[in-house]
Amino acid sequence: MANDQCAGWTTAPGHTYSDFVAEYPAYTETAAIDDLRAAEYGRLDRLGHVYLDYTGGGQYAASQLRDHLALLNDGVYGNPHSNNPTSLAMTELVEQARAAVLAFFNADPAEYTAIFTQNASGALKLVGEAYPFQPGGRYALTFDNHNSVNGIREYARRGGATVRYIPVRGSDLRVDPALFAAHLAEADPAAHNLLAFPAQSNFSGVQHPLAWVADAQARGWDVLLDAAAFAPTNRLDLAAIQPDFVPLSFYKIFGYPTGVGCLLARRRTLAKLQRPWFAGGTIAIASVQGEGWHYLLPGAAGFEDGTVNYLNLPAVEIGLRHITRVGVDTIHARVHCLAGWLLRELQALRHSNGAPLAHIFGPQTMDDRGATIAFYLLDPTGQPYDVRRLELLAGASGISLRTGCFCNPGDGEVAHDLRREEMAQCFVGHQGGPVLFAEFYETIRRSTGKTPSTMRVSLGVASNFADVASFLDFAYGFCDIDAAALDSQPIASGHHQALPDAA
Ligand SMILES: Cc1ncc(COP(=O)(O)O)c(C=O)c1O
Repeated sequence: MANDQCAGWTTAPGHTYSDFVAEYPAYTETAAIDDLRAAEYGRLDRLGHVYLDYTGGGQYAASQLRDHLALLNDGVYGNPHSNNPTSLAMTELVEQARAAVLAFFNADPAEYTAIFTQNASGALKLVGEAYPFQPGGRYALTFDNHNSVNGIREYARRGGATVRYIPVRGSDLRVDPALFAAHLAEADPAAHNLLAFPAQSNFSGVQHPLAWVADAQARGWDVLLDAAAFAPTNRLDLAAIQPDFVPLSFYKIFGYPTGVGCLLARRRTLAKLQRPWFAGGTIAIASVQGEGWHYLLPGAAGFEDGTVNYLNLPAVEIGLRHITRVGVDTIHARVHCLAGWLLRELQALRHSNGAPLAHIFGPQTMDDRGATIAFYLLDPTGQPYDVRRLELLAGASGISLRTGCFCNPGDGEVAHDLRREEMAQCFVGHQGGPVLFAEFYETIRRSTGKTPSTMRVSLGVASNFADVASFLDFAYGFCDIDAAALDSQPIASGHHQALPDAA
């Protein structure tokens, strides 16, 4: 796929592993993960996969599966919360998992509780539907939130609270600190005010200052810190910062199991939530003759609707133990080195005419950012290649990356300079039912010439140098290739789509 005439590089873009470690010596201190990759994540190399979608979903270690299966095989478990032996055994494991989650995030059980949910979105919905949004109160949120945080605005509106977005700006997609402070100052401290922001944007990788949590609380805000994209490769210490609500999905941290997330909630703020309904599992007692009579269970139990995903909860404890053994700080150091190198090398890629091959959306260095990188690949005239085609081509090379808007419309709108009035054509007065993403994409392309879709690579627990080098080789393969020539080729449904000749 490489083109010899491109900027003096032949196969990979110039640099070798020894160049890399010379520049990032801290990487060698994470060498234990290379052994782990072979022992625990060997399927990636055995099956020829270059996995670069950790922000989409983490990868599981083989021992997690073995340990979980052994636990299930060697025990007899029933639905928790009864007094029979199989139920009691399960209840013990559920509570053990809850304690393990709190310990992993260094959360004082007197201060925090962990509510098990289906995923981070389930945790966010619990907050949205029960937060006392009222006239006079506010819901403020940064532009770069995931849609599951954006969706809380519908509850806020319904309750009569004022909804305010805090924009991200510039090519690095960060928030202006003065503007942030101005938004905080708008709250009436006597009202119920909720601020939501991601500890790490799942689009740009931006890591907002965690000091915002205490700043906002001091000005009368409750703070929802979305840690879904942050927690897999960064230490979140709830003794050091104390947000009121932290939603998470465990599959993003350790791959298995899916279908379990949690809401870490500060007990004192949890007490002001008003659940809109009750269900089996959440009720102390209810009466059918007295229609309005019911008591919710106190604490986490009052928020866990129905039967929790009980057989999978021990797998959460197993996953946390695994990550603890590897070391969150080791994982962090490793992906920080790899992402720094990837960012720099991607920015250095050039066509023969000197034009850049990549454009990064978000911070250009590793200062206050995580290992999630959004970008376009550009042709020699600066035209982005069709990201859908790139995803297929990457797939044909065994590379799993993600394209689209990643459920993060705010970062997307700013990154692609999509104006409100340009977005409006898909919403205001639109006839003919909901606009799906493909139609939105074509409408924006046709009317503005802009491309409202992005590529993203993200690193995680099992990432290594070879993964990043493979991706750079892939990107370099587009050197001197014309976007129109690529577009004119039919999209192959499956594998091994050839690139056109370089222009
Ligand atoms: C920052 C962020 N928040 C929330 C979510 C929602 O997670 P889930 O789909 O597991 O509910 C995601 C998922 O990608 C995310 O990246």
